[in-house]
Amino acid sequence: MTDVAKRKDVAPAPLEWEYAPAPEARDIVRFEERYGLFVAGEHVDPKSGQWFATTSPASEEQLAEVALAGAEDVDLAVGAAREAYENGWSGLRPSERAKYLFRIARILQERSRELAVAESLDGGKPIKESRDVDLPLAAAHFFYYAGWADKLEYAFPNRRPRPLGVAGQIIPWNFPLLMLAWKIAPALAAGNTVVLKPAETTPLTALLFTDVCRQAELPPGVVNIITGDGSTGAHLVKHPDVNKIAFTGSTEVGKAIQRELAGTGTHLTLELGGKAANIVFDDCALDQAIEGIVNGIYFNQGHVCCAGSRLLVQESIYEPLVSKLKRRLTTLRVGDPLDKNTDVGAINSKAQLERIREFVASGTEEGAEIYQPPCRLPEKGYWFVPTVFTNVAQSSRIAQEEIFGPVLSVLTFRTPEEAVEKANNTAYGLSAGVWTEKGSRILWMTERLRAGVVWANTFNRFDPTSPFGGYKESGFGREGGRHGLEAYLTFD
Ligand code: NAI
Ligand code: MG
Repeated sequence: MTDVAKRKDVAPAPLEWEYAPAPEARDIVRFEERYGLFVAGEHVDPKSGQWFATTSPASEEQLAEVALAGAEDVDLAVGAAREAYENGWSGLRPSERAKYLFRIARILQERSRELAVAESLDGGKPIKESRDVDLPLAAAHFFYYAGWADKLEYAFPNRRPRPLGVAGQIIPWNFPLLMLAWKIAPALAAGNTVVLKPAETTPLTALLFTDVCRQAELPPGVVNIITGDGSTGAHLVKHPDVNKIAFTGSTEVGKAIQRELAGTGTHLTLELGGKAANIVFDDCALDQAIEGIVNGIYFNQGHVCCAGSRLLVQESIYEPLVSKLKRRLTTLRVGDPLDKNTDVGAINSKAQLERIREFVASGTEEGAEIYQPPCRLPEKGYWFVPTVFTNVAQSSRIAQEEIFGPVLSVLTFRTPEEAVEKANNTAYGLSAGVWTEKGSRILWMTERLRAGVVWANTFNRFDPTSPFGGYKESGFGREGGRHGLEAYLTFD
């Protein structure tokens, strides 16, 4: 016993160590009351006459009103993009195009704190993630593709790359600004102009990005931002003057878009859902794997297409792993996205919360065992406690379908062959994780896993130089790296 511990006059250690709040400044970002559409470099009211509200999922407060673009608005935006493409952008010296992209990258860095706060307010993700992941990666994508803009002949030797024309881009709500960067940076570097539609619950960083374009003095019409819902997206897909559609979102909508475009000659890339296996062998560094498992499924509330939502554990380490994992879960801090100590923020929308609840109810009904750590949730807003299911049947919905929430399903395996078979037993094929000490086993596994990305002894790592995309129902086409450029080019 230490001297202090022996002393009677010293207060005993509290049973519960509470963190003091560590709020990021809310007022670093100011939203307008209303945002019009960004067409030909101007903010314009929608011809549709329709508007809708975007709210904070953590407080349910309205943040701003945004336009709901109808068919006529989509047509005007595509017209502006065509005009900018024909009369300037596609003929611009490539090094000039690069200059604009470098400017955008630098402005994103300069305004990163403001944009990170906006992202967390509008979408509910923890500030430490928008600050340390979304914003740095968004800037990195612009830097990376700025570098390629004047080197396309070197990226594709002897192939004479040319831009496609006008790209229509539809993005989801889980990484709003980062998905914007994934879409806009390669498109512009390749010489295309764009019409981008953000998701209905998270339009604000895309609207702030219009100010970044203005600051960078990007020529009008090169980037057009139209807010709206699924009907707006559908108008964009159907527009006859769009040369390429790039979509990230649900498999269901992706399939509908593919049907719509079949036989039209419009270029298409789809980045859809996933049900990644995170595979843990008994020779792994267990504590490191626990961190990887937690990052794999609870990062961004599990609203991640490549989330490690199916944990495959080698039977011999099942007991210690699950008990360590449960203990780790009790330390996750769920709450205010703007608090710098928060690990798990708000669920993006009421609709998504209901979807998650429904999946979790089905898991219990199908006989899986649920574990949720004790957790105090805020009264207002949309929240879900980090959840683990054990005793999960391979055929159950929680093992097969994308939940897109902080819910992990644990399954077991005995041999590497069985791990591969179980991992590949899914309609998806976006990503996978392997935890083992043996390099040879990593290579053996990566050759057999049908997934676009396989992480070894890590999870959810992203880099602009590395292509990302899926097999099977996870979609087709790659984003990132030279592959990502290729998706915005045609070759003679
Ligand atoms: P969603 O696929 O409906 O939305 C994604 C984007 O597509 C939004 O911008 C939306 O406005 C647009 N959109 C919707 N219908 C459209 C149509 N007919 N034509 C063109 N664009 C359209 O996804 P939702 O409903 O928000 O989420 C449902 C499920 O989808 C989630 O629970 C999750 O499983 C999955 N999802 C996967 C994502 C991924 O990153 N792969 C992202 C978002 C959702
Ligand atoms: Mg919102």
